[in-house]
Amino acid sequence: MKDKIELLTKELIKKLDNVESIKELNDLKVEYMGKKGIITELQSGIKDVAKEDKKEYGMNVNIIRNTFNENYDKQLTRLKEMEISKKIEEERIDVTLPSKRIRQGSKHPMTRIQEELEDLFVAMGYDVYDGPEIETDENCFQKLNLPLGHPARDSQDTFYLENEYEAYLLRTQTSTGQVRVMEANKEKGPIRVVCPGKVYRRDDDATHSHQFMQMEGLVIDKNVSMADLKGTLSTFCKKLLGEKTDIRFRPSYFPFTEPSVEVDVTCFKCGGAGCSLCKQTGWIEVLGAGMVHPNVLKMSGYDPEKYQGFAFGTGLDRFAMFRFGITDIRTLYGNDVRFLNQFARKDENNEVK
Ligand code: DAH
Repeated sequence: MKDKIELLTKELIKKLDNVESIKELNDLKVEYMGKKGIITELQSGIKDVAKEDKKEYGMNVNIIRNTFNENYDKQLTRLKEMEISKKIEEERIDVTLPSKRIRQGSKHPMTRIQEELEDLFVAMGYDVYDGPEIETDENCFQKLNLPLGHPARDSQDTFYLENEYEAYLLRTQTSTGQVRVMEANKEKGPIRVVCPGKVYRRDDDATHSHQFMQMEGLVIDKNVSMADLKGTLSTFCKKLLGEKTDIRFRPSYFPFTEPSVEVDVTCFKCGGAGCSLCKQTGWIEVLGAGMVHPNVLKMSGYDPEKYQGFAFGTGLDRFAMFRFGITDIRTLYGNDVRFLNQFARKDENNEVK
């Protein structure tokens, strides 16, 4: 019996010495001290031992149990310490390491131009209206005095969502905003609104993109004249391109305005003397505008005898190109961060430090 216990004890010590994790240690506890563990069974085996041998048997079992407990505790402390030092080692922070660079984005040049213009017009008492890019033929053309088959539609070919003329299309001009705002105004009272947004056309070269941005302006009231239009646009161009900027009106044609004008600004590069940007003319065309056509007023429920209005429309991309010296419109839509990041530095109000 004694030999057996000695053998068992040796084996147990060896096993306990070799454990490498708390889990292994716990497994050993189950193996020896669990309900059906080796030591537990030895203990309950006492009932089968002859009376005179019980004492010695009991002592031997106690020895092995104590040996187990002592070694178990020792190993547990050792393993716990090991675990803690491993954790400390792993989680050590080197506070002297340089920090990771936080990349901060910058506003897209188009967003900046749009926000700047919105601010300018809001300061002049305008509302901002953001219409849908998917439109009906009616809103995009018919109610703007471009009936089916009108030749001026040719310059605004677009992407149709179903059969041409029958269903929806991607709007070709933010002038659709005029229709939507006039129709939404149930009292048919005065309006002062700008509608910035994306428009689409079947175009694609260095100065025309199939998607670009426009901003429409619409003012409807009693006693509105071309003088108001000119004053408004003059303020707008001066604020955006510099106080020295002059504007001029050239007669033009748009189906939704009568009379219609094209608006030029003095070249901000040469100041009007003539250079490559303005093709030696000293002027650059930036806007279309005019007095709202009576048909347009009528179709959206306004009485042209009582109300007049002016409207204007401009490509925001062109303003961004002028403003930031961008030569290819397609870079504005290329999503190349190397291009976009350049604009963070030029903006005095940009939060990037
Ligand atoms: N919608 C026109 C275009 O895309 C621009 C325009 C011209 C808008 C004259 C107007 C306007 O409101 O009065 O070419």
